[in-house]
Amino acid sequence: MADTAPDAVTLLKEDHRAVEKLFKEYEDASGNAAKRKIAERIAGSLIVHTRIENEIFYPACEGKVEEADLKEAYVEHDAANVLIAEILASTKGDEFAEAKVKVLKEEIEHHVGEEERWLTGIFSQAKRHGVDMDALGAKLADAKTRYEAELEKDGPEVHLAALKKTKVAAA
Ligand SMILES: [Fe+2]
Ligand SMILES: [Fe+2]
Repeated sequence: MADTAPDAVTLLKEDHRAVEKLFKEYEDASGNAAKRKIAERIAGSLIVHTRIENEIFYPACEGKVEEADLKEAYVEHDAANVLIAEILASTKGDEFAEAKVKVLKEEIEHHVGEEERWLTGIFSQAKRHGVDMDALGAKLADAKTRYEAELEKDGPEVHLAALKKTKVAAA
């Protein structure tokens, strides 16, 4: 597994490109049923991606990437997941369905930019400070396969609950 899996950054960037393609497909699709199917695929791929970053990639970046950048990334994941949950829960007649997917796309574009930005992005910082991307790539690939199968079997709710990373302070 370890010698066939892509390195961590390659794997995560491939996920980014794949979801960008899905957002484009969503825009081009016509009809609520077709859009709904694509929205579910977007949600599924983001759930799995966020989970492997939260549980494997970001923890490996601790001490190697500016703490503030990692914190911001976790909060961005949580914000996206709120919208993903809403998109999945929205029923047929939701007049905001398309707007929600559009806002999610904009949030993800911003977030991906912060991960991939040359020199100062999370991936660049992690590489520069010696995170072992080959070992990490194998771990990410294993977890991705496992979570994709679980998502198929159990549905998204359990994953969305597991994803909540940041705590909301009590009022
Ligand atoms: Fe990412
Ligand atoms: Fe991320």
